[in-house]
Amino acid sequence: MSEYVLGTAAAELARLEFQQEVWGQISADFLDRLDLLPGAWALELGTGPGLMLPCLRRKVGPRGRVLALDQSPAWRSQLERVIAQGGPGEVEITVQRVEDFEPEPESFDLIFARWLFCYLPDPRSVVARMARALKPGGTLAIQDYNHEGLSLFPECESFAAVVQATRAMHQHSGGDVWIAARIPQLFREAGLELVEYRPHVLAGTPLSPAYRWADAFFTLHAQSMHELGLVSASVLARFRQDWAKRKAEPSSVFFSPILVDCAGRKQGGGRRERVSRPA
Ligand SMILES: C[S@@+](CC[C@H](N)C(=O)[O-])C[C@H]1O[C@@H](n2cnc3c(N)ncnc32)[C@H](O)[C@@H]1O
Repeated sequence: MSEYVLGTAAAELARLEFQQEVWGQISADFLDRLDLLPGAWALELGTGPGLMLPCLRRKVGPRGRVLALDQSPAWRSQLERVIAQGGPGEVEITVQRVEDFEPEPESFDLIFARWLFCYLPDPRSVVARMARALKPGGTLAIQDYNHEGLSLFPECESFAAVVQATRAMHQHSGGDVWIAARIPQLFREAGLELVEYRPHVLAGTPLSPAYRWADAFFTLHAQSMHELGLVSASVLARFRQDWAKRKAEPSSVFFSPILVDCAGRKQGGGRRERVSRPA
């Protein structure tokens, strides 16, 4: 198994927390649009440091339950801190690879995964297994990339090279940053009805949240790309110069990749039957 490419260092935690500030409302709105009732059982795959757990807890309410799964044991203490901050519903943690996770059939009302599927070598089998784990009427909700659109203006060659390396870094762990484009087919094969497919792009000038989010990613992970042999020392040095120059130009513009809300619903189950626990 290859290591998770972005790691779990303190700097990565800080980056993920800022990422939540920038993109969190889009995720919360996605969950709000899903037909989830209080008392539901939810599973979050690739939960990381648990930045969406407070939102998931609010969605399932005091009689609900959330199971948080991630492969990285380093996130456990952070997850425990987030859980200790309180909120409705029970939360359990499981540290394992999603590929090894065999949930009981028909056990969850909602399965949520943000920025996980782009790292998975075999997303088809994970979608199929999660479809089996949904209760009738339950929803598999994925937020992930179609990486097109990631761009910087005025354009520069070193940025283009680092974008290529970013894509290669995901491929390095067997993943695919265009995974959102394949989700409708994977849902179909797994018998899930596509009930939502909504793209989001963020863009802005250097002081905008979108640009600062890109700055946090590239400042930290251009180095990781170099260490993986995906960017040479000279391209890295050139990129750092160019990136600093663009950041100092008040009218340069960054566009994010496309993040797509993908929701697939399992047939059957009335609203009432999807409630997990009796009142
Ligand atoms: C980019 S982070 C996203 C974290 C969180 N979903 C969020 O949106 O803040 C990706 C997470 O997926 C986890 N991950 C990657 N591959 C995994 C796998 N095969 N099984 C379980 N977790 C995995 C990593 O450990 C990491 O915490």
